[in-house]
Amino acid sequence: MSASFPVARPRRLRRTPALRRLVAETRLAPADLVLPMFVKEGIGEPNPVSSMPGVYQHTRDSLRKAAHEAAEAGVGGIMLFGIPAVKDGTGVAADDPDGIVQVALRDLHSDIGDAIVLMADLCLCEYTDHGHCGIVTPAGEVDNDATLERYAAIAGAQAAAGAAVVAPSGMMDGQVGAIRAALDRAGHPETSVLAYSAKYASAFYGPFREAAEGAPQFGDRSTHQQDPANADESLREVLLDLDEGADMVMVKPAGAYLDVVRRVRDAVDVPVAAYQVSGEFAMIEAAAEKGWLDRERAINESLIAIRRAGADIILTYWAVEVARSLQAANR
Ligand code: PBG
Repeated sequence: MSASFPVARPRRLRRTPALRRLVAETRLAPADLVLPMFVKEGIGEPNPVSSMPGVYQHTRDSLRKAAHEAAEAGVGGIMLFGIPAVKDGTGVAADDPDGIVQVALRDLHSDIGDAIVLMADLCLCEYTDHGHCGIVTPAGEVDNDATLERYAAIAGAQAAAGAAVVAPSGMMDGQVGAIRAALDRAGHPETSVLAYSAKYASAFYGPFREAAEGAPQFGDRSTHQQDPANADESLREVLLDLDEGADMVMVKPAGAYLDVVRRVRDAVDVPVAAYQVSGEFAMIEAAAEKGWLDRERAINESLIAIRRAGADIILTYWAVEVARSLQAANR
């Protein structure tokens, strides 16, 4: 064998940490991360979510503090979820100007409104006593068009309270168009819409339903959320949302749908977000707690994979921790 064989030696560029850093194709930055946060009405102390270590249902005060820390860490945005003290059939607290999300948005807007992008999840499941994402008919079905009217009202309330971005997550047909029209009508043409366009009926939302107290009391979400078997359908949903005026689109969950993230990234010219959901978070936390994998490495790998698949924006419950370690690494 000649001394110069093989000619191509990809290992040359993997030799040292400095070389590997130089040739890295994909990087994470704090500004691309969005932290989902929960705020609950009427509690005296923050409530730890047992299936999500380090995640809390916040009080108004603890939310302000935690949001400030996220801004300090350079995190790009916050996605806010509200849990009202009282739930009912139509989710009246969702668009009440004094409802918990609106109150919290006003707090955050006055504290840090310019330092971080304030996003509000726009859905009814946290606000309804039946836990469904919309208005339920006497037959127990989610009524698409009646729900759109509720979403339109919620969008106006969230925008008025200071949300820079509203993020409809209910997977109703026509939701982006209804919300865009309502925002424009209500004098909020500047408020943007991040559409949860390709949202799957996923088992990986399990821990979230404890965090947001939004588990359906009967039935499931498979008549509106997408079947995990389908990917072409995601493109259809994304293109419909862009036609209806979405400014950004999302794929959710992220880890099990990286093919969908890539296809959406290649198909559109708007920012693409991916949501690393509660179950993705809980799996790594639980395995790490058992000593079965290296927690930090698994977190970083899970996030770089989402980035490599093409996500511009990543929603992750690890946003602050990861942003801080990125800041420290760049110091
Ligand atoms: C609906 C909503 C859900 C999540 C975000 N928005 C739950 C669902 O659709 O059942 C899940 C997020 C997560 O699991 O981290 N408002």
